[in-house]
Amino acid sequence: MTRVAFVTGNGGLPKLQITTEWSAAEIYLHGAHVTQFQKHGEPPLLFLSAQSRFQPDAPIRGGIPIIFPWFGKPVGRSGQHGFARNRSWALQEITTPEPGTIYARFRLPPAPELGEGRIVVDFLVSVGQTLTAELKVTNHSTDTFDFENCLHTYFAVGDISTLQVVGLQGVDYLDSLEGHQRKTEVNDAIRFTGEVDRTFINTRHRVEIHDPAWRRRIRVEKTGGVSTVVWNPWIAKAKAMTDFGNEEYQRMVCVESGNVATNQITLAPDEAATLTMKLSSEALA
Ligand code: BG6
Repeated sequence: MTRVAFVTGNGGLPKLQITTEWSAAEIYLHGAHVTQFQKHGEPPLLFLSAQSRFQPDAPIRGGIPIIFPWFGKPVGRSGQHGFARNRSWALQEITTPEPGTIYARFRLPPAPELGEGRIVVDFLVSVGQTLTAELKVTNHSTDTFDFENCLHTYFAVGDISTLQVVGLQGVDYLDSLEGHQRKTEVNDAIRFTGEVDRTFINTRHRVEIHDPAWRRRIRVEKTGGVSTVVWNPWIAKAKAMTDFGNEEYQRMVCVESGNVATNQITLAPDEAATLTMKLSSEALA
């Protein structure tokens, strides 16, 4: 029942195609980027833009971009959201630890910014009834290493106008639309009537996406991460992005899991930090 194939994907970039008893997934070596996860009999869980670029020097638009070692565009950093999503990762191994589940492990190649191999970054994807992604950063250098990380997950949804993101009531966030002003989420659910770009901090909460149009509830659980970013570009920003369709904002939402902004991680020598995100789905009652 389980099958793994290494094929040429869009733009000639190599990708893994994984099929299990429960689901199908695709992962590009470019960015170690999961572009698809779909349970048999359900719509895709991940959104992938029809306008996405597939080229070595650009991020893929959709799926799960790995944001590392910085999030956004901090002063003194060149390029938004770090470089991990633009590098070709090495496939280390594929294993089947339990029947019906496939693990694929990737490693970010050494880079000057990562002490030429002294900061080791591994990404483990587990495909089965759920999708689990684990990003592990190990500091083998003699200095501390500061970084942000984020699994910038794009979810496919039936209709953004009836969508609710639940689980963040009472949590503080930085509002990117208002100069990163700190606010507190007062609503029981986030509903979308315009652009939303919020970085929730200090939160281990499980987040759920309730999608009545597709009668689906998606669960986003994380460990080793205390930030959740919720983003939908809405109309104007969708139009401004060249690698995103003008109408595609209606069929996606980003709920991102990581450690960003004030939750940045400082790793002492010989320490490791692991961020794990588990995605599951079921019918919405
Ligand atoms: C989100 C940010 O995480 O990523 C947004 O909060 C940003 O501000 C979005 O626009 C997309 O970023 P990019 O670099 O992939 O276009």
